[in-house]
Amino acid sequence: MPRRILVTSALPYANGPTHLGHMTEVVQTDIWVRFQKLAGHECLYVSADDAHGTPIMLKAQADGITPEQLITAVGRERRRDFADFGIGFDNYYTTHSDENRTFTERIYRALQAGGHIVRRSVRQAYDEQAGMFLPDRYVRGGCPRCGAPDQYGDSCESCGATYAPADLINPVSVISGTPPVERESEHLFLRLGDFEAMLREWTHSGALHQAAANKLDEWFTAGLRDWDVSRDAPYFGFEIPDAPGKYFYVWLDAPIGYMASFANFCARTGIDFDQWWAAGSSTELHHFIGKDILYFHALFWPATLQGAGFRTPTAVHAHGFLTVNGQKMSKSRGTFVTARRFLDLLPAEYFRYYLAARLGGGLDDIDLNLEEFATRINAELVGKLVNIASRCAGFIHRGHGGRLAGALPDPALYAEFVTAGERIGAAYESCEYATAIREIMALADRANLYLDQHKPWLAAKDPARAAEVQAVCTQGLNLFRVLMAWLKPVMPVTAGRAEAFLCAPLALWRELEAPLLGTVIDAYQPLATRIDAAQVAGLVAAPEPAAATATPLAPAPAPVSLEEFQRLDLRVARIEAAAAVPGADRLLQLTVEIAGGERRNVFAGIRAAYAPEALVGRHVVVVTNLPPRRLRFGVSEAMVLAASGDGEGLFLIAPDAGAAPGMQVR
Ligand code: 2FM
Ligand code: ZN
Repeated sequence: MPRRILVTSALPYANGPTHLGHMTEVVQTDIWVRFQKLAGHECLYVSADDAHGTPIMLKAQADGITPEQLITAVGRERRRDFADFGIGFDNYYTTHSDENRTFTERIYRALQAGGHIVRRSVRQAYDEQAGMFLPDRYVRGGCPRCGAPDQYGDSCESCGATYAPADLINPVSVISGTPPVERESEHLFLRLGDFEAMLREWTHSGALHQAAANKLDEWFTAGLRDWDVSRDAPYFGFEIPDAPGKYFYVWLDAPIGYMASFANFCARTGIDFDQWWAAGSSTELHHFIGKDILYFHALFWPATLQGAGFRTPTAVHAHGFLTVNGQKMSKSRGTFVTARRFLDLLPAEYFRYYLAARLGGGLDDIDLNLEEFATRINAELVGKLVNIASRCAGFIHRGHGGRLAGALPDPALYAEFVTAGERIGAAYESCEYATAIREIMALADRANLYLDQHKPWLAAKDPARAAEVQAVCTQGLNLFRVLMAWLKPVMPVTAGRAEAFLCAPLALWRELEAPLLGTVIDAYQPLATRIDAAQVAGLVAAPEPAAATATPLAPAPAPVSLEEFQRLDLRVARIEAAAAVPGADRLLQLTVEIAGGERRNVFAGIRAAYAPEALVGRHVVVVTNLPPRRLRFGVSEAMVLAASGDGEGLFLIAPDAGAAPGMQVR
């Protein structure tokens, strides 16, 4: 019976380039989907960009563009990267869509009606200068346990302690460099505990790999806490209908983005949404995710669906992270490989093959070991698999006009290859791709052994043995065809080229039951070529230049009129005094003379780059007519201009020698 299966992979945040970590996830999902389609099931694959939240809002601000402009630019690149890695989405959408707003509001109302939403006041870090509440990761300071400096507000990278931002020693806001204050605000919570019985049952219904189910058991033991689903303005997301100034937390509307992307697909294709999502639906729903977001997908998400009257997921497949040469991907170490860089150096299907060869179904990390990568491509793909076709094709063309023999000399061997599809299919089904690849390569060894035993290259020297040569090579090419079909979920483009060479397109695995006999094949073109160490080393040779890793070119900010520009009072100023600000790691307090005798007090976030004593006497450029900013330690009455890269470097803007305080800057 064909199954009806809806598949998703996690929605990548729309604020940076696609990298091999993203590819690890979508490739394994795509392999699973392609396997299901070849096995004859109705399988649909949707995903989207995750477009909301504080980091996206701030990244857009830093780039001087709107969040909409940012997510549009990132979305465009993302689609191109995924297409170039052969990811066959049925729909790729965005969470910043009308469909998603509609579903999110509907689900929220249903949860509310069911009594699953409660309101409570929370105290939270607030940046008075930036005028916003700070997510834990936007507060940094010394670890309260081990004292390590410059740690995130939720956990210490040095000793592993977890805590609240308020516990940090000398906390500062990452946004303004000022110490945050505590403020109270009312938030909305989903009562996760309401769903505990359902979640416990769901966890052990076969929806999770054992390793993931064990994690959930730990969480049940620790107790299910209410989940804060609201955030205060300013926030880029959907405003909550009955709570003006409050927004749905990005993690509420992100998974709802799976539904929204599917609804968008239904509207285009006429598929009935409810058949797939209504409570009690007999279709399957599978989510592929990284292990870091298991909590969201295995607790919050099924609870949200159940509470709002929808079906729950059939399975959540969580995987480990990609490491490169045993190390976490990191820009500074040069092991952060973007999708584009990979494509510039190597065929995408080599990554797909290697990944499949390394993937089991559990939570273990997957290492891209560059030496092993090259070896596997050269020894397995080129040396074993493609070799079968190149050893046989010439003999079928020479003397037989490209026509295959009318019968197989060893039908039992062929049948063995076809039957192996059951084991290989079972391995794909359970995401044990490494097992599938091992089986396929063992069969490739068998096929090569068959050719070694029958030596068509020797028989070809004797015209009387022409029929034997044709038969042996027909056998070899049929074995090759079966192997390429088993590998097709992993390498769809290469498999398609093999089908073109054999003049036998293949849409379903069951077509393999009939071998190719008596038909004409095309000339053989190399289907895979060796790679050399230099190509592979290029993936990590040097850290990528900033331009290549930066967000796709952002449109310039909207133009300002000359009048608007002239309203800025920009002046040369002289720094008369400079001092560190106790409790603010990033700030210096400056006294600047802006015109004959007129002085201003300025707090500038330049401590990382300048020692206070080195600044006294220097000329800088200041904006004098911004509204004064009230900080904890005083009022900042002007702004000093400095240049900075994307979080790197800080360079004061200084006039050439001769300029004097008070001169206008135009
Ligand atoms: O962790 C992340 O990268 C999230 N953007 C994943 C969201 S998956 C789904 F829930 F939308
Ligand atoms: Zn610590």
